[in-house]
Amino acid sequence: MPAETTSDLTRLTLRRPDDWHLHLRDGAMLRGVVDSTARHFARAIIMPNLVPPVVTAQDANAYKKRILDALPAGRRFEPLMTLYLTEGTQAEDVAAAHDSGLAKAVKLYPAGATTNSQSGVRDLEKVTGVLERMAEIGMPLCVHGEVTDPAIDIFDREAVFIETVLDPLRRRLPELRIVMEHVTTRNGVDYVRGAQRNLAATLTVHHLIINRNAILAGGIRPHYYCLPVAKREEHRLALRAAAVSGDPRFFLGTDSAPHVDPLKECACGCAGCFTAANAMGCLAHVFEQEGALDRLEAFVSLNGPAFYGLPANEETITLVRRETPTRFPAKLETGDGPVTLFDPMFPIHWDVVEE
Ligand code: NCD
Ligand code: ZN
Repeated sequence: MPAETTSDLTRLTLRRPDDWHLHLRDGAMLRGVVDSTARHFARAIIMPNLVPPVVTAQDANAYKKRILDALPAGRRFEPLMTLYLTEGTQAEDVAAAHDSGLAKAVKLYPAGATTNSQSGVRDLEKVTGVLERMAEIGMPLCVHGEVTDPAIDIFDREAVFIETVLDPLRRRLPELRIVMEHVTTRNGVDYVRGAQRNLAATLTVHHLIINRNAILAGGIRPHYYCLPVAKREEHRLALRAAAVSGDPRFFLGTDSAPHVDPLKECACGCAGCFTAANAMGCLAHVFEQEGALDRLEAFVSLNGPAFYGLPANEETITLVRRETPTRFPAKLETGDGPVTLFDPMFPIHWDVVEE
């Protein structure tokens, strides 16, 4: 059934959304943040950048159990597991994890690109066997698309990655299905639009809302710092156009990435924005501003499952637009400490009605 999307600007019912890029962490942090996602989203692609990383099928299976155990009683949520690609990853293990349905994707972190990426890939040649096997079995590769060369300006690292790593890889292995994660540039959007097949991109909530001024103008604001770092306004506008276009190659991956405040608010703060709790309200605001509320469902609930070859969710959620803005707590208290929630710098009128 096509979801019944009713919008009189005060009420919007959509198929239940999924998040195609999410960091849940582990232990007390996991227990503190998981329900911020599970309340609104049916499924999420779970990033494997724990310490130590989630490399093998066995690791993923154990992590999945910990996630399910951390859910409040009665909550239905399906973690879609990924495997962290290392230069020692075994093609057989990856294929077995895919065959069993446990792992939905493999994640490529160029070593040193972002949080907990030290165990990532330095030399793509070393993982060719794994990538070839994935291309054969149709298993997607989720890519953190930034080069790590310190000589390359941080604002150019995505564009340079596309030219020097991604495009050559796609030419060499055209059957490999790739998701460019958290695209932040016009270059990324254009590259995805130009691909005939086997390429899609996730877009975060925060990159649709902030540009680099949010981080740097009028003082350093660490809660807007994430990787890939937000770019110029022209790039934000390109991302918004892609998100609201209805083009099935673009879908939501929040990249909600909680870090406790002391690790953000310090001389060398961690990268990551925690958006899980207000993601849907922020997105409804953005789509309303763009006159595209009728395309929100494609972005959050339909395009992602279609790319991953999974059914869209049958359940629905309802968003309401209230005159009085919804008040979100500024911080989520977790067993590890407080985590500041993304502040979109506008009042959020849309809220998910609790079932
Ligand atoms: C992520 C994290 O904290 O794990 N940080 C971020 O800024 N997005 C890692 C990542 O996805 O790059
Ligand atoms: Zn991420």
